[in-house]
Amino acid sequence: MTIRAVVRGVGHYLPDRVVPNAEFEAIVETSDEWIRSRSGIERRHFAADGQMTSDLATRAAQAALADAGMDAEAVDAIIVATSTPDLTFPSVATMVQASLGMTKGFAFDVQAVCAGFVYALANANALILSGQASRVLVIGAETFSRLMNWKDRGTCVLFGDGAGAVVLEAAEGQGTTADRGILATDLNSDGRYKDILYVDGGTSTGTTGHLIMEGKEVFRHAIEKLAETAHRALDKAGLSGEDVDWIVPHQANIRIIEGTAKRMQVPMDRVVVTVQDHGNTSAASIPLALSVGKARGQIKQGDLVVTEAIGGGLAWGSVVLRW
Ligand code: UT7
Repeated sequence: MTIRAVVRGVGHYLPDRVVPNAEFEAIVETSDEWIRSRSGIERRHFAADGQMTSDLATRAAQAALADAGMDAEAVDAIIVATSTPDLTFPSVATMVQASLGMTKGFAFDVQAVCAGFVYALANANALILSGQASRVLVIGAETFSRLMNWKDRGTCVLFGDGAGAVVLEAAEGQGTTADRGILATDLNSDGRYKDILYVDGGTSTGTTGHLIMEGKEVFRHAIEKLAETAHRALDKAGLSGEDVDWIVPHQANIRIIEGTAKRMQVPMDRVVVTVQDHGNTSAASIPLALSVGKARGQIKQGDLVVTEAIGGGLAWGSVVLRW
């Protein structure tokens, strides 16, 4: 008997305010045409004043639990992937735990920036395989609008706010690639690249800080490292690009998404793309895309899904799972 961490439910939440590219033309020297052609982004959602990452995370968690037909009390653990916590501590995960009315189990945050959800999935999988938890709520939630330097046109047009969540549950599998659930994970980081994507705030400054990115450099690493990690995870599972039904990539830039799919020899009609509507929502982008992909009728039970992401650190990785 092999234990697998199977997705039982998925859901998301996006704040009401939709910001089209045209709004940026009034604050920085940019154009809808530049943003669309260089990134694929057409609009993004921004959280309202007073609406925090934990609020978005809770709404996404409730949607995922409803989709799973599960009560919050059935959950043993909550992991929130975020780089935009409401407070330095406690974790967003414990705030979500309280909002859901859970008084047992355990909750913690994972901070691996845009790769956060992939890291959180891998950690949830490890908790389930080691018997420490049977049902884990894995959430990616961000309010990156609060990290923007509104004078930096190279970054402020790219990011958005949102949250997505999945409920993972331990289930018996046969130990084959036909099993539902997580089949392989691959995590990587290389701190030598910490200066090409970071936020210049924290305990060192006493401020929240602003996001700073050398876009071209990050782009170069993304193109090289994403296909590599996806191939490695597929290899570990004993699968190849041909077996993939859906790539659900981190939604940072359509050119990175297309470049990675090409390197994986997977056609674009097997890639879930939401970057046009959400912008880059960091750790929230993959669970948002999983939820939207399911709602659109793209991802169906039994499909082989590969997620991959890269972000600040650099930190990157991928997860192969059968839906
Ligand atoms: O989620 C974490 C991972 N992050 C990513 O994966 C992001 C990776 N990087 C990217 O997606 C792309 O590098 C960007 C979308 C950020 C930029 O695209 P690019 O093709 O690499 O453009 P660039 O930075 O080389 O800039 C080209 C030109 C520059 O002008 P000059 O120096 O050629 O005169 C920029 O100043 O475009 C200019 N530019 C803009 N123009 C209009 C930069 N931002 C803007 C803007 N509007 N918003």
